[in-house]
Amino acid sequence: MGKRYVQDFYVDPHSALLFHKMDLGLKHRAVRVLGSRVFRVTGIVIFLIAFFVTLMHLPMNTLGNEYHFSSPAPSRPVNEQINPASPSYYLITDWSRFAYVQYVTNTAYLCNSVMIFETLHRMNSKADRLLMYPAGFPIEGDSAESILLRKAHHEYGVKLVPIEVQSKFELGRDYTWAESYTKLLAFNQTQYDRVLSLDSDATILQPMDELFLLPPCPIAMPRAYWMNPDDRVLSSQMMLIQPSTFEFNRIKEAIENASLNEYDMEIVNNLYKDSALVLPHRSYDLLTGEFRAKNHSSYLGNPVETWDPDVVMREAKFLHFSDWPVPKPWIQAQEDTVTNNQPECNLDSETDDKNCRTRDLWLGFYTDFAQRRKDVCRMSLKKSHKRSSDERPERSPGIYEPTF
Ligand SMILES: *[C@@H]1O[C@H](CO)[C@@H](O)[C@H](O)[C@H]1NC(C)=O
Ligand SMILES: *[C@@H]1O[C@H](CO)[C@@H](O)[C@H](O)[C@H]1NC(C)=O
Ligand SMILES: *[C@@H]1O[C@H](CO)[C@@H](O)[C@H](O)[C@H]1NC(C)=O
Repeated sequence: MGKRYVQDFYVDPHSALLFHKMDLGLKHRAVRVLGSRVFRVTGIVIFLIAFFVTLMHLPMNTLGNEYHFSSPAPSRPVNEQINPASPSYYLITDWSRFAYVQYVTNTAYLCNSVMIFETLHRMNSKADRLLMYPAGFPIEGDSAESILLRKAHHEYGVKLVPIEVQSKFELGRDYTWAESYTKLLAFNQTQYDRVLSLDSDATILQPMDELFLLPPCPIAMPRAYWMNPDDRVLSSQMMLIQPSTFEFNRIKEAIENASLNEYDMEIVNNLYKDSALVLPHRSYDLLTGEFRAKNHSSYLGNPVETWDPDVVMREAKFLHFSDWPVPKPWIQAQEDTVTNNQPECNLDSETDDKNCRTRDLWLGFYTDFAQRRKDVCRMSLKKSHKRSSDERPERSPGIYEPTF
């Protein structure tokens, strides 16, 4: 207890106090009610009835199948799936129809995903949590992978779905589900009405449960605001997807047609650039590199507003690490790489004071990540190599990587 992560910086002290007081009031009343004998007897009877009813309705395969959805429930007919037109939709939302989804291809990314789930769990996000992981990772035993998988399941309520991961470089094989496309298997999770796929090289600053209640659409994504605005490119760092066999088949066909330098981002842009619901990138897809930028008008969405890093942080929900040539946050950066690329302090023209708030926040993103990696995964930072296998080479800097 007492650990403070980036997200905790922005708790409003007044509202926190208010919740605390409300808690106390409820507790006193609750103690009186719970103390009564009638209540206790009634409670036990209701519990026993509920227990036997549940037992009778439990499908056999959920017993003894602790970790997996080996046979997902058949997906509901489309007209029963998402119907926000019904007034009750927003009142009795069944959050188990929605899930945050992560995919994993190696151990470093497994830790990143578990960190994402830890954050969602700590922030009491309501939707399910689903992890697609390589079928070759064992669940039993004491390998680093199995310990993390079990921790995700037991401590953060994560459902585990094994998938086949193929290397793109295995020549002569059908590499439909090569690593770079694994993310798109989210379209196949038809046991859910809606899933939110988030890149794991990121920090969640606030839960995003409200996105699951958006109007129905096959996919919703923010724009890659750091790219040429005329190209209107959508960012696959965040995808709100309605899993469906129909869309999954389109994805599969597009992958089969894709050339070697086309990745998940190209696939979804080709398929959905004119039909996706566009999520506001401001607050839903903030890049750490924005803190190094000199011109913030693309992120802010207008050329008149002044950059205030605290305002930006209070709004933001999803912060993606992208600071080329600074390495990803689980890799120990060379000291001069940091000093040469960190945000500059601004000089206040009137008072002549140095304002380093933007730099301090940016440095804080990296120390916060390292701290959580240690707390959640018991892993320290990796030594930097010229070409670490954890740095997806095609993405560094890659055509979609901003160079501020
Ligand atoms: C898609 O989901 C189905 C049903 O769960 C599963 O049988 C199939 O293997 C999945 N496809 C891929 C490519 O993972
Ligand atoms: C894939 O290629 C085939 C043959 O060239 C074409 O008919 C089909 O429309 C393509 N599909 C997609 C999704 O691009
Ligand atoms: C900032 O960028 C926008 C669009 O990218 C451009 O229109 C504007 O002139 C730039 N502002 C400055 C001060 O360079």
